Amino acid sequence: MSATLSKLDVVPSGAALGADIVNLDIGSAGDEDIAAVRAAWLEHLVLRIRGQKFGDAEHLAFARRFGPLDIAPNTRFSGEAWKPEYPEMSRISNIKIDGKATGSLGNSELVWHTDMSYLEEPPTGSLLHAYEVPEAGGDTKFLNMYDALEALPAELRTVIEGRQIKHDQTHNSSGALRKGLEGVEINDVTKIPGAVHPIIRTHPETGRKALYLGRRARSYLVGLPVGESEEVLDALWDHATGNPAFQWAQQWQPDDLIMWDNRCVMHCRDGFDPNGRRLMHRTVILGDRPY
Ligand code: OGA
Ligand code: MN
Repeated sequence: MSATLSKLDVVPSGAALGADIVNLDIGSAGDEDIAAVRAAWLEHLVLRIRGQKFGDAEHLAFARRFGPLDIAPNTRFSGEAWKPEYPEMSRISNIKIDGKATGSLGNSELVWHTDMSYLEEPPTGSLLHAYEVPEAGGDTKFLNMYDALEALPAELRTVIEGRQIKHDQTHNSSGALRKGLEGVEINDVTKIPGAVHPIIRTHPETGRKALYLGRRARSYLVGLPVGESEEVLDALWDHATGNPAFQWAQQWQPDDLIMWDNRCVMHCRDGFDPNGRRLMHRTVILGDRPY
């Protein structure tokens, strides 16, 4: 066997998406390994690498092998990077020092969403690396949006075929208004700032079609009266998020690294005890305009 072939193993979760990558050292991965990880990512949509100790420099270097990284949303909206030397790194944490948040997204539940779909060119994928996890709660669930589309009732599919959806950029997945967006229009869904994308998108690498919903709150089906848009969106969201058969849940351990494909996956997070500590670092890979 050639020494250049990858020796990693892919262990599927057995659910609708998700797999563990084992026998891969992220610090010394060769190009063949990265190609194998990418192929597994396209097949399983969410990958987990468990039990390796590494820091921001290694996280960034590994993430960059899947494409150039975007700056963190917090950096984008507030103009201030959490760590000035790493403007691409987000700190996702509920930990407070002297009553002041040290990271984003707190301890509350996070609603189902796709990361940064309000951008004209939303990210290809996100990597989330756990440093500290609470004793209970804080699981992250993932949803296979190819499956959600395939199982969509025909009448509903007819209603959305060829339609565009507007994605709200003013609020994050914990429901908080983003810094720097105070005072913008948030009541008229037809006017809220954010990108417009096809509601059925074609994955640029697999060629498969996926439902692309973004976030429920303040989204809008372009061209429909608002009331009708709300009705159709409610039906779509009930269908997509109401079926555990489309999902897999990640129960975090410290040192877990999870990467998900934002083009065909949504995710949400359970809340957890505010007295527990949860600390994660996140990067996102730049993506293309959905079509
Ligand atoms: C995110 C996110 C989920 C979590 O960082 O984009 O949704 O489990 N995080 O913290
Ligand atoms: Mn997210």
